[in-house]
Amino acid sequence: MESTGPGSPSCAITTCVTEPNSPDGAEPVFDQRAATYSNHTWHIRYAERLVELAAPTPGMRILDAATGTGLAAIAAARALGPTGHVMGVDISTGMLTRARQAITAAGLTNIELVRADATALPRFGNGSFDLILCSAGLLYLPVQAALREWHRLLTPGGQVGFSTMAAGFPVAARLFRDHARRYGLTLTDPATALGTSTRCRQVLRDAGLTAAKLVGETIRFSSHDLDHAWEAHARGPHHDAVATLTPKQTETFQRDYTDALADLLRTDEDRLLTSEVIYAFGER
Ligand SMILES: C[S@@+](CC[C@H](N)C(=O)[O-])C[C@H]1O[C@@H](n2cnc3c(N)ncnc32)[C@H](O)[C@@H]1O
Repeated sequence: MESTGPGSPSCAITTCVTEPNSPDGAEPVFDQRAATYSNHTWHIRYAERLVELAAPTPGMRILDAATGTGLAAIAAARALGPTGHVMGVDISTGMLTRARQAITAAGLTNIELVRADATALPRFGNGSFDLILCSAGLLYLPVQAALREWHRLLTPGGQVGFSTMAAGFPVAARLFRDHARRYGLTLTDPATALGTSTRCRQVLRDAGLTAAKLVGETIRFSSHDLDHAWEAHARGPHHDAVATLTPKQTETFQRDYTDALADLLRTDEDRLLTSEVIYAFGER
């Protein structure tokens, strides 16, 4: 089924949803975040750095899994030049609509978009891709199901690259969980599953991939990125339990959290705005 939008004929969105495995509610959450997602320049730097480290070469066939607004797909397509092809897959129509607009605006013709669950892509045969990227997305997916499917989709010698926050980062999210504890909520750090070099190596190995390269770096947020911190954490797909609070509790939680963020911004801006991240690459 084609779902092309008016006025943007050069990049269509094809729909082939199978069984979404993302955490409940991930799609509406990302539909809501789509309009402002690319305004956060750290998202762009984070995705572009993954592509830079993956170093795609002309002629490659690339899958950008959980492509969102297409940040990594666009960077990869630029690196490929006219002889390669990028397939961007995401579950969120809102994100894909933004991706399509950005691709059209960039004048790129070597990217296709598909709305589908990135962990189950039967429409693509074994060995369909030379490189599979997943920027800031694997934490929203069942990790092993995703990596095993990507193993199937990779050509022998092909590479998968993903990025993750280190466990305990970003600091604004840690602060959110600390405050949630005051209301009896124990929220798990979504970065726990992938957030150390050891974990990254292990999940790659468990999926039959060789851990080829791990790069630890930091990324810097701007203070404006904190403007939507409450919404991002309170409505995030990993924090469903926040919806069980009463309106009064939610109001107090939001006020105290927002005040704590503002305090930390004043007293220790570097700690609040700097996050450790890991870029992990596995080879089939
Ligand atoms: C934080 S965004 C990252 C987007 C993009 N890769 C980037 O670097 O900016 C996470 C993305 O994962 C997508 N997502 C969540 N579950 C998914 C699934 N099962 N299949 C495909 N995409 C999914 C969301 O819709 C969202 O666009």
